Amino acid sequence: MGKRFSYGMVGGGPGALIGEIHRRGISMTERADLVAGCFSRNEEKNRSAAQELQIAEDRVYGDYKEMAAAESARADGIDFVCIVTANATHYEIAKEFLMHGIHVACDKPLCFTSAQAQELADIAKEKGLMFAVTYTYSACDATILARELVRKGEIGEVMNVNATYFQGWMLDVMYGTEEKSDIPVWRTQPSQSGISNCVGDIGSHIENTVYRITGLHPARVVAVLDKYGQPLDTNANILVEYANGVHGVYSSSQVFTGERCDLEVSVFGTEGTLEWTWREADRLSVTKRGQGTRHYFAPHAGDPDAADTKHARAFANIYAPFMDAIEKTQSGVITDLAAADFPTVVDGTAGVKFIEAVVRSDAAHAAWEEV
Ligand SMILES: NC(=O)c1ccc[n+]([C@@H]2O[C@H](COP(=O)([O-])OP(=O)(O)OC[C@H]3O[C@@H](n4cnc5c(N)ncnc54)[C@H](O)[C@@H]3O)[C@@H](O)[C@H]2O)c1
Repeated sequence: MGKRFSYGMVGGGPGALIGEIHRRGISMTERADLVAGCFSRNEEKNRSAAQELQIAEDRVYGDYKEMAAAESARADGIDFVCIVTANATHYEIAKEFLMHGIHVACDKPLCFTSAQAQELADIAKEKGLMFAVTYTYSACDATILARELVRKGEIGEVMNVNATYFQGWMLDVMYGTEEKSDIPVWRTQPSQSGISNCVGDIGSHIENTVYRITGLHPARVVAVLDKYGQPLDTNANILVEYANGVHGVYSSSQVFTGERCDLEVSVFGTEGTLEWTWREADRLSVTKRGQGTRHYFAPHAGDPDAADTKHARAFANIYAPFMDAIEKTQSGVITDLAAADFPTVVDGTAGVKFIEAVVRSDAAHAAWEEV
């Protein structure tokens, strides 16, 4: 695989949280150049981002629709678009680029409803376009290794899953503190975030990370959500049952003072247990029955710079196979998005269905809900 790609970005303007980290992740692959963008709806911010990113004047767009039309009409138009806007606009932007024949990478949660998600998946399939959904944590070197080990039977049959994702920034929003979090507060608003804040924003990472490691999506859920007076959930306790009858507990919270961002996953199997935490993202621990614990360290473990760039490295682990898959489409080989080695629109659709089931279960006073 050696093609050099060009890509465009929607979102990721000055002060945005995740767009810059996508750009760093993509540049780590050394395979793609950012050549076009609509980085903000604010014209001044859009221009200033474009200037800093050295985008040619004629490829800075005031509107994503104009960008999709113009780029698809150019002989040297972008190969793919990276969508890093707030959740509310993912569906319309992704659909626009797909309709113009452009491959898509979009951040999570994929969109607001499972009907929208399914529509995006169907369009991508029908047009033979690749569609990545950038679930960071399932693409760390150590979680990719965890997936391989589970597939090889290293921990036997999965018997139980326990996964948590904790942050503390909502307490700043609720009670006010001098040191404000850098996490944008649009997440608290249904118009921007969708039907869920905490589960949509971070519980969805749990769902995908556990799925990519174990191959298990929840089939049924029981959920209790806490809003603490906010418009959307800020704390979630969820019991899940997979199709094979195995259970798991997913817990996510934004009221854990002192925790900025930590995802932890433990998978208990008949032959052993597998443990991983974002805090030490380069380490995977496997304890086999009767054999003690073995720690696997990813290549960057121990490098202090790597700790700063771990989000970007995970994105690189998504964008590299995504670009391989795009390159294959150019020779007529279409990767099945349900079985790709990067998280796709199919994962994103499962994620939205999970969010919907959790919200339904909570509304029904913790009734079991099918996903
Ligand atoms: N994968 C991860 O680990 C991860 C981490 C953080 C955020 N996210 C996701 O990334 C997305 C963005 O989150 P964020 O925290 O960076 O948000 P943000 O508010 O910091 O950034 C959004 C950017 O998009 C721009 N924008 C919004 N609508 C636009 C439009 N129509 N056209 C052009 N630009 C537009 C805004 O001006 C801003 O620059 C969200 O969906 C979020 O859930 C994912």
